Amino acid sequence: MAQLEKGRSPFYPGQPVSRELFTGRENEIQKLITRGVGQVAAGKPVAAFIQGEFGIGKSSIANMVGAVAEDSHGMHCIHAYLGGAKDLADVARMILEATVKSGALHPSRSQSIRTLLAKYVGKQSLFGVTLDLTALKADAPQLASASAILSFLSEVRTRLGGLDLRGVVLILDEINGITSNPAFAHFIKGVVDENAMSASPLPLFLILCGVEERRREMIDLHPPLDRVFDLVIDIEEMPEQDTKNFFDHAFQSVGMSVLPSALTKLAFYSAGLPKVMHSIGEAAFWAEQDGVVDDKDVTRAVIAAADDIGKKFVDQQVLKTVRSKLYLSTLEKIAEIDPIELTFKKSDVVPLLTQEEKKTFDNFLQKMKQLGVIRSGVGQGEYAFVVRMVRVYLWLQRLKSTESSS
Ligand SMILES: Nc1ncnc2c1ncn2[C@@H]1O[C@H](COP(=O)(O)OP(=O)(O)OP(=O)(O)O)[C@@H](O)[C@H]1O
Ligand SMILES: [Mg+2]
Repeated sequence: MAQLEKGRSPFYPGQPVSRELFTGRENEIQKLITRGVGQVAAGKPVAAFIQGEFGIGKSSIANMVGAVAEDSHGMHCIHAYLGGAKDLADVARMILEATVKSGALHPSRSQSIRTLLAKYVGKQSLFGVTLDLTALKADAPQLASASAILSFLSEVRTRLGGLDLRGVVLILDEINGITSNPAFAHFIKGVVDENAMSASPLPLFLILCGVEERRREMIDLHPPLDRVFDLVIDIEEMPEQDTKNFFDHAFQSVGMSVLPSALTKLAFYSAGLPKVMHSIGEAAFWAEQDGVVDDKDVTRAVIAAADDIGKKFVDQQVLKTVRSKLYLSTLEKIAEIDPIELTFKKSDVVPLLTQEEKKTFDNFLQKMKQLGVIRSGVGQGEYAFVVRMVRVYLWLQRLKSTESSS
């Protein structure tokens, strides 16, 4: 059959998923809505930490909760990405930027925000708002404290409807770079405490997103922070059925269908990781040629996705420094034991190794620990991958070589 003209791909490997294609996570969303949004709308400030591995879907869940809070609970959501922030002035600038861009789905709100923050708005273009970075940089240091941010958010609330606006959701996302700065932990504790103690607390739903290690790091730096988070939401791998529903729905949305066996294969290779799901889906979207995704398309997609995922996650951080072929083959063998499980036992790996690999195995484990690829596990001789994606990628690499030689 002639190749169909491709429309827009429904897959977004690098962005939070759209509302239409958001799949599963019912319990997590439910908890964040009832115990977070609902409480805030009733006047009680709440703080939550959404934690999980890289690419597991933290930003997407936060995004969804913010959208529900805006649409059904009369609240306003500001989603700030703090990647690259080094100090509180950076954090303040990024919150300010996110505020200028907020309210995109509510034209009257975004208009009010832009009027309030007119000095930070650069040129309006067809593609949305541009920011006046010089003005933002100049003013951010004044906002770099808990009390300043709280007054700023209260002002935003006043401009957006005062008491009619039921609350503000502030999402602080991609916090990896800033959590090692003790000022950040103090800032978060300050925002929550000062708000609680104020005569009329701002109904604020503060949501932080990050890997669990970052939350622990913040608590180590400032132990009282442990009491600040009313909700700690763990995001795990997606169940197989949800993964299948996602693929089914995504392909259907662009008029394509998936054979049942191909659907099983797609879900299997995705291993419950949403980021991998989108990479493989994207590759399958381009691989199929007749409107029906079959097993062969999926195989091609897995091969392409392994490259894509690997380039972004693993090659830069790991493989560049691990030039040894012995180390690489050892890594692949570990990945193959169980690609989804984070932990592995030294005693399960040794029988799979060649004599040469065995000799270098202890050095290998040390090196991988130094590189932050693995860490010691709970039991004797137990290790765990720090980032699950590394293991999945290595497994996909292995599949790639076996699939292409079969
Ligand atoms: N519930 C979901 N349904 C469908 N796709 C999802 C879902 N959650 C996440 N995704 C997709 O998975 C990928 C990773 O999601 P997201 O960016 O939300 O994860 P993250 O945990 O915030 O990642 P990072 O650690 O990189 O910040 C994105 O492509 C996103 O579109
Ligand atoms: Mg994210």
